[in-house]
Amino acid sequence: MRLSRYFLPVLKENPAEAQIVSHRLMLRAGMIKQATAGIYSWLPLGFKVLRKIENIVHEEQIRAGHNPILMPVLQSADLWRESGRYDDYGKEMLRMQDRHGRDMLYTPTAEELVTDIFRAHVGSYKDLPMTLYQIQWKFRDEVRPRFGVMRGREFLMKDGYNFDLTKEDALHAYNRHLVSYLRTYERMGLQAIPMRADSGPIGGDDTHEFLVLAETGESGVFYDSEITDLKFGDREIDYDSVDQCQSVLEEFTSRYARTDDTHEESVFHERVPEERRREGRGIEVGQIFYFGTKYSEPMGATVQGPDGKPVPVHMGSHGIGVSRLVGAIIEASHDDKGIIWPEGVTPFHVGIVNLKQGDEKADEACEALYKSVEALGLEPLYDDRDERAGGKFATMDLIGLPWRITVGPRGLKNGVVELTSRRTGESEELPPEQAIAKLAAIYGPHHPHLDRPEPMAKRSFHTWM
Ligand SMILES: Nc1ncnc2c1ncn2[C@@H]1O[C@H](COP(=O)(O)OP(=O)(O)OP(=O)(O)O)[C@@H](O)[C@H]1O
Ligand SMILES: [Mg+2]
Repeated sequence: MRLSRYFLPVLKENPAEAQIVSHRLMLRAGMIKQATAGIYSWLPLGFKVLRKIENIVHEEQIRAGHNPILMPVLQSADLWRESGRYDDYGKEMLRMQDRHGRDMLYTPTAEELVTDIFRAHVGSYKDLPMTLYQIQWKFRDEVRPRFGVMRGREFLMKDGYNFDLTKEDALHAYNRHLVSYLRTYERMGLQAIPMRADSGPIGGDDTHEFLVLAETGESGVFYDSEITDLKFGDREIDYDSVDQCQSVLEEFTSRYARTDDTHEESVFHERVPEERRREGRGIEVGQIFYFGTKYSEPMGATVQGPDGKPVPVHMGSHGIGVSRLVGAIIEASHDDKGIIWPEGVTPFHVGIVNLKQGDEKADEACEALYKSVEALGLEPLYDDRDERAGGKFATMDLIGLPWRITVGPRGLKNGVVELTSRRTGESEELPPEQAIAKLAAIYGPHHPHLDRPEPMAKRSFHTWM
């Protein structure tokens, strides 16, 4: 992509309405535009990051053996009356009528609709276990939408639903989700800590929330400092193995970690030595629930068990805040100049800055670098505008690409360009071929943050299908 052709409406001033850094930087970097309270349009840079996050979520869901589907955002109230939630949900649910006076709603979550799909098509325990999931827009009429995409009214969520014959099987599905979520967040460069949580309107007994530690988080968190040393890393997991999933769950949830909803001061003091007690704030980026037969029973979602008798299936639901993650990643990774994208979700891998647009040698060198970056399967963003160097650097720093190659007539006379890391700020002068070789090594097949056999750009959005 060339910046002269790209729609990147960068703001010079800090927007007054933004209270937290991620909201401010998303507006300044031209990633989103508010359409109305809590509802946003995604502009090219923001949309690209959103898609990268979505893609990681899909890949990890498929890896765990789950089935992607897509359900409608507008749903009939009738199904929600079957579960009793149409009356229970309250003002967060956006309700409307169609021209025939039928009650409709914009989906805040989709337990009823997915249960309806299940009961229509699945009749035998032999078809289980089964997990269906989607990445789809949700609407919740939040009283106070704020912090940009972090607490929107319309937001993108991955919601997955497991159907199992027994409670035991459903708890394995719960554990499998926990493991796949750990992997998912790490690929985005995030540490998200599973914490015991409250179940809210979805209902159920077992539930964990995943929290990213950040001062601007809306949840109070209390945890054992040892928990921040845990890493999932690149271990291989057999998602069908009950023992393997159970042992990861134990490893990541045995230490004290709770949100303000479930925190118990006395238990905290009993279980965690004083020097390891931490108190802070966190951003909820996901939640998993086991709720048994709460929906299957009233909605008649049964399968024929091994003895021929109908049994209501045991279910759980599992959510990831896909659009909130864009903000959460920025909260966790920025400095006073702008965003610092983790490699796994960056909109472009390399920014190319031409210090003297129109200078034949500089233009030529930039074009050649552009092609070489693409040949690595990486995405370059070339600042080919006729602008001052200072402005070009400020834009690159603001939009936070992990690497920048700076090209100017003076360096070229000595046969070098400059390769700069956004994260460390360190720069190196290198011949162009060596700069490319270095990028090739960084984004090579075993790059820990990329966690994929081939470079990202070679895969389209939909390779997970
Ligand atoms: N208003 C919102 N804006 C953006 N993302 C949201 C919003 N509400 C929920 N999410 C995301 O969707 C995920 C799954 O939804 P869930 O039903 O668990 O939300 P929730 O517990 O009601 O969220 P919260 O407590 O933050 O209101 C959450 O973990 C969060 O990351
Ligand atoms: Mg939640």
